[in-house]
Amino acid sequence: MSIRTEITHLTLLLEEYNYQYYVLDNPSVPDAEYDRVFQQLQAIEKENPELLSANSPTQKVGGIALTKFEQVTHLKPMLSLDNVFDTQALNDFMQRVSDKLIRSETTFCIEPKLDGLAVSIIYENGILVQAATRGDGQTGENVTENVKTIANLPLRLRGENIPPLLEVRGEVFMLKAGFKKLNDSLTQANEKTFVNPRNAAAGSLRQLDSKVTARRPLAFYCYAVGVFEGQLPNSQFERIQKLKEWGLPISEEVKRVVGNTDCHAYYQAIAKKRPRLAYEIDGVVYKVDDISEQQQLGFVARAPRWAMAYKFPAEEAVTVVENVEFQVGRTGAITPVAKLKPVFVGGVTVSNATLHNKDEIQRLGILIGDQVVVRRAGDVIPQVVRVLVDKRDQKKTQQIVFPTSCPVCHSPVERIEGESTIRCVGGLYCEAQRKQAIKHFASRKALNIDGLGNKIVELLVDHKLVENPAQLFSLSTSQVITLPRMGAISAKKLINSLQICKKTTLSRFLYSLGIREVGEATANNLANHYKTIEAVKSAGIEDLKTVSDVGEIVAKHIYYFFRQEHNNEVVDKLIAAGVHWPKIEGINESELPLLGQTFVITGTFTNMSRTDIKNALQQLGAKVAGSVSNKTSAVIAGEAAGSKLTKAAELGVSVMDEAALSILLKTDS
Ligand code: IVH
Repeated sequence: MSIRTEITHLTLLLEEYNYQYYVLDNPSVPDAEYDRVFQQLQAIEKENPELLSANSPTQKVGGIALTKFEQVTHLKPMLSLDNVFDTQALNDFMQRVSDKLIRSETTFCIEPKLDGLAVSIIYENGILVQAATRGDGQTGENVTENVKTIANLPLRLRGENIPPLLEVRGEVFMLKAGFKKLNDSLTQANEKTFVNPRNAAAGSLRQLDSKVTARRPLAFYCYAVGVFEGQLPNSQFERIQKLKEWGLPISEEVKRVVGNTDCHAYYQAIAKKRPRLAYEIDGVVYKVDDISEQQQLGFVARAPRWAMAYKFPAEEAVTVVENVEFQVGRTGAITPVAKLKPVFVGGVTVSNATLHNKDEIQRLGILIGDQVVVRRAGDVIPQVVRVLVDKRDQKKTQQIVFPTSCPVCHSPVERIEGESTIRCVGGLYCEAQRKQAIKHFASRKALNIDGLGNKIVELLVDHKLVENPAQLFSLSTSQVITLPRMGAISAKKLINSLQICKKTTLSRFLYSLGIREVGEATANNLANHYKTIEAVKSAGIEDLKTVSDVGEIVAKHIYYFFRQEHNNEVVDKLIAAGVHWPKIEGINESELPLLGQTFVITGTFTNMSRTDIKNALQQLGAKVAGSVSNKTSAVIAGEAAGSKLTKAAELGVSVMDEAALSILLKTDS
């Protein structure tokens, strides 16, 4: 094979790999294979510089730096788009189009509105010869060297019937992932970061040194044909598909639809998909599909009458921080919240934004009274993106001061080493944490109180019936019945569950107290180590650290929990209310005969409800699971049991009926 043939062969191979990867989004070879061919071509070109082509796939690394960009006059003006912001205005547009074309329904080519910058790229006989920015629409800047470095853009077109002259127009943008990476590396290098992918794309495209551009993760999608010589289909949609055939990248979201209903449905669908797209979009573009119809409709001022951008609501807006308040969260974490002058952003009115913690406040350099950019994208919590320091009025701003005690219960706050959050140490005593603490106390792995879901806890606390877990045990049926939407049966059931749950284990009890960082496993280790609640209560930090899995931080959490008088009060009251557990040494066959066994309950039963059965099994130390696995000891099957029974048979798990169950529970007497 001659060197020339070899170069052609390797070039075609790389062009094919690029096409599959970037345009079809369907790579056919591993990256390593691509790199191998690329390096091979590079090596040959290095040895034979006279054979190096400007359009070689190796030439995407940039060249000599420019001193300035040349001006380029566009062959045909680059227009802009009119905008609408609601469905009514979009309907009006579609109505105008239909009226003008004298037809009831129009076919539209619908495309995402890419959030980057418009460029015009000219191919002569399939070779990229010029690229320019939009500029003022008449003249732009010659950015050919920079555009040539964009990875997904072919330097040479492929396929059949390529027009001798073809101007494609489209958007240069940065993928969200690439943007994040770029900013991370700029941060690492102590350089200024970009505010958003659009700015990053613009900044990268306007580099005089194309070697810098080459290192930036830019991408390009076509959305239109400008001037051309030769034949093209008479439809926007088909033209875009044709561009794809010739190796040009297009967005996979481009669709052709007929009529208003589908036009609106597309907007809704893409708005929903937006957070998951790899690139930023700021709306949807509706274009009359038929090119003759486009010509019939013509232009007004700088925008075509046949196209319309339906923009998403702006995701960023400027407003003022009127105050900063401190909210106490579920675990006592105290979060600074910026109280904003209400502003419409991301489709809703926003008046709060979380400031997370001290570190974030420092990072933002934010003061009360500052003007800030807030952002709300999709259904994400509003964020303060940055402070407009230039607009700061020293006389009207003031420092944010962190509280030294809990704003709700006035307990001391602590800042744990290595954490940037401050917390109220009030625990069960702090009103803000009360609901959460009671929910945790009642949860499945804690005291497992059936019929005491989150909603009921909220109601109980809101109606001042309960302030802490201990008070649950003084509730009467007549009190519970007074809650909204609470029937007599559910009320009775709850009171009954509260009786049943009193019999527990020390491990569950310790877990139920909601001590920070004390999960199921730690609670279990503590129980086994200390064996009595008194011993846990009086243990010192160093001693606690000898318990398996308990480190310095956890030890401190436990120690300080029991140094809060109100926590001890609740513990004592719980025990006084009758919460009890077998002595640790006393855990034997007679107390918890089903310890270590797991049951699955399915079907309906005659003498007991499924909840009753579950409680009864758990009281004997068993676990009750929701699905059958090879860890299941037995499936308890009532009438009309279904798939779980089949599964048990498949896995060879034993099955018990109601009669067998009642023997197990010794309730048949
Ligand atoms: S068509 C005559 N299609 O939006 C039509 N523009 O607001 C001219 N843009 O300068 C543009 N995505 O930078 C068109 N699918 C799309 C687009 C799109 C983004 C940008 C483009 C243009 C601006 C006009």
